[in-house]
Amino acid sequence: MGEANPVFKNIIASIVDGIILISREGTILHANLATEEMFQQSRDHFLNRPAGDLFPGQPELQNKIEDTLQNGVAYHQIEGQGHRRAHSTTFPVSITVSPYINDQNQPEGAVLYVRDCTLAQELEEISRPFDAISHLGTLSLGMAHEIKNPLVSISGSAQLLRRKLPEEHHKFLDVVIKESERINRMIDRMLNFARPLDLDLETINIHQILEEILLLEKQSHEAAIQFESVYDPSLPQIEGDGDRLKQVFLNLIQNAIEAMPDGGTLKVLTRYHTDYAVRSQVHPDRRKTILVEIVDTGLGITPENMKHLFTPFHTTKSQGNGLGLPLSLKIVENHHGKIKVISQPGSGTRVQVYLPVKQENA
Ligand SMILES: Nc1ncnc2c1ncn2[C@@H]1O[C@H](COP(=O)(O)OP(=O)(O)OP(=O)(O)O)[C@@H](O)[C@H]1O
Ligand SMILES: [Mg+2]
Repeated sequence: MGEANPVFKNIIASIVDGIILISREGTILHANLATEEMFQQSRDHFLNRPAGDLFPGQPELQNKIEDTLQNGVAYHQIEGQGHRRAHSTTFPVSITVSPYINDQNQPEGAVLYVRDCTLAQELEEISRPFDAISHLGTLSLGMAHEIKNPLVSISGSAQLLRRKLPEEHHKFLDVVIKESERINRMIDRMLNFARPLDLDLETINIHQILEEILLLEKQSHEAAIQFESVYDPSLPQIEGDGDRLKQVFLNLIQNAIEAMPDGGTLKVLTRYHTDYAVRSQVHPDRRKTILVEIVDTGLGITPENMKHLFTPFHTTKSQGNGLGLPLSLKIVENHHGKIKVISQPGSGTRVQVYLPVKQENA
């Protein structure tokens, strides 16, 4: 290989993606600076080593590189995993393999063009639930009315028929009526979720909202669940939509209870939180945030389930709609707040709701 033109050398060194030249035997001959940064190792570690060291355990990729070396075939954007030796971690990459043609126009190896896809993948994961939300908006609004109208006729007719039929047939119609009501409730929640949220702002006492919910829940789950509340008495009143926030905490408390089928402890905690990261610097109150935590000693959430918590219709429950958390997130985000879920399978879940004391545009 002759001495490279200095401009080309600089271009190769400046590219932020990895460029790796490999020999006919499949060992690494050259690599640009970005390769070292991407794989977090100096070139001494991988020069003259098989290319497979950077992408271990991926026979399909190896076969494609082999095919390029043997037959001069190019492959575009193969998905793979790069390996960082120092931390024994992997990261997603997209690789293009081209035959390397020497000055005599002869194939003499292969060039790998490696792109780190970590950020792209993260962005895709973050935006996925939101894509689903916006699709859901259009879809559900259209569908909901189509379903709701016949549903009214179905349950209306069932009620009428129930009155006319002898009692031994009632139980069948009760199922029709009960299930129609369930579908109706689900559609209402979906519509609620799909419509833009207009908040009805007022000054609210979050403790009062929590107590109202807990009072009801305590009555229905007396035996199995221990309820504990640890409130910060100095917590200020906040600006928010009381009914919507009640919906949020009701969803979260119900989730916590449903996660403890064999009983357990449900703790509700409140405290003051100074959020230095909040955007507005103008009004000192706008930087103040309260934190409400719903803590259960239930089943916990697996890492796989955790990824989809806020995706509409994602549920692990036979009777669940998978709308509680996405709807809660929507309401909290409309209040410029955030929800954080911390959980370990087997040792319960802690859901944190951060809410600013004052709304931005108030
Ligand atoms: N406190 C919790 N402990 C364990 N798993 C939870 C908890 N909260 C939520 N989850 C998991 O997140 C999933 C989604 O919750 P979400 O509230 O959105 O829907 P759902 O409870 O299944 O149904 P819905 O609330 O619509 O009746 C649940 O099915 C459950 O797997
Ligand atoms: Mg729920």
